[in-house]
Amino acid sequence: MKLAVPRESEAGESRVAATPDTVKKFVALGFDVAVEKGAGQLSRLLDADYEAAGATIAADAKTAMADADVVLKVRRPNDDELKLIKKGALVIGSMDPYGHEDAVKAMGAAGISAFAMEFMPRITRAQVMDVLSSQANLAGYQAVIDAAGEYDRAMPMMMTAAGTVPAARVFVMGAGVAGLQAIATARRLGAVVTATDVRPAAKEQVESLGAKFIAVEDEEFKQAETAGGYAKEMSDEYKKKQAELVASHIAKQDIVITTALIPGRPAPRLINKDMVASMKPGSVIVDLAVERGGNVEGAKPGKIAKAGEVKIIGHLNVSGRIAASASLLYAKNLAAFLETMVDKEAKALKVNWDDELVKATVLTRDGQVVHPAFAPETE
Ligand code: NAI
Repeated sequence: MKLAVPRESEAGESRVAATPDTVKKFVALGFDVAVEKGAGQLSRLLDADYEAAGATIAADAKTAMADADVVLKVRRPNDDELKLIKKGALVIGSMDPYGHEDAVKAMGAAGISAFAMEFMPRITRAQVMDVLSSQANLAGYQAVIDAAGEYDRAMPMMMTAAGTVPAARVFVMGAGVAGLQAIATARRLGAVVTATDVRPAAKEQVESLGAKFIAVEDEEFKQAETAGGYAKEMSDEYKKKQAELVASHIAKQDIVITTALIPGRPAPRLINKDMVASMKPGSVIVDLAVERGGNVEGAKPGKIAKAGEVKIIGHLNVSGRIAASASLLYAKNLAAFLETMVDKEAKALKVNWDDELVKATVLTRDGQVVHPAFAPETE
């Protein structure tokens, strides 16, 4: 069994899909592991450490992936990479398939079995494989650190001989994994934190972190969670009521962090330019949803935009800004999933295509797009 860990080719991608720790595990499972030279460099992982863990260092992506039965990736392989991967190889990564149907087709045509880690079911057995949680948690933390860095006042209240510095007011919109970590982080820094979400279950979680929950708690709100625990798209009427509530609240905030997402849909627009304009000079907004269309009007992907005296931070790949930690957790997520595809006695790959984790994540197989969300309609 040959396993390859190429260096991520996408500009700005600082993470890597395996660490020396997970390589050690793969070697014990019977894999020959090839890591491309410098693959872990931006995550502070050295070639020498991969080598010490039992990997060979390949000079380039072609050498790393030649004959590999398994390829571990952070990002979906691009066309150049697909040419280097043999037919039938298992390729596991964050495939970001929505809105990229052509890229999914290309993976099908290349004959690889592509697994989208973001489709991992959120069941107990798969918690250790949940890349959305592991990366969103760090992104939520980093969002607060980024905001604090751009904010030119202190976060905690400080009573000094020279006077009192008031605590920053932080409002977190969307209290999923990223939002809850943002709340916890802002609290640790001493801010006064409020938060909102459309899912009623979020209220208790927000309050348990010591933040105040703010939301339009009407009948629609009470029904707003899907069986999978995700948010639904809300009615126009709800959105209007939510906007009114949020508008008066935002005007009093110093920092706003938005994390609201709806799976498979563009991010809901939560903050319009009037709300931005209502904030005090020096206020900071972080839009963690900017890659999915953005929660904030005026947010620019990859930029810190200025709207008057308010900064809107739109960093891309926020978990990649804390790459050494993000890679550590991401690599563990992948290793746990791959382990389920190995026959430990025979030291051979043995994918159970009927396993619910495999069925939920496999996008392409045997030259076809097989995932129900992307497969061509069959009569
Ligand atoms: P997400 O990244 O899809 O969305 C982020 C948050 O935005 C969600 O809390 C969502 O309700 C909220 N949101 C959507 N539209 C909004 C709007 N208009 N206004 C305000 N907020 C809005 O969600 P994430 O972080 O993936 O979490 C979704 C759920 O999954 C949560 O209940 C979480 O606790 C649960 N979960 C369960 C796991 C498990 O293994 N059982 C693991 C991780 C998360």
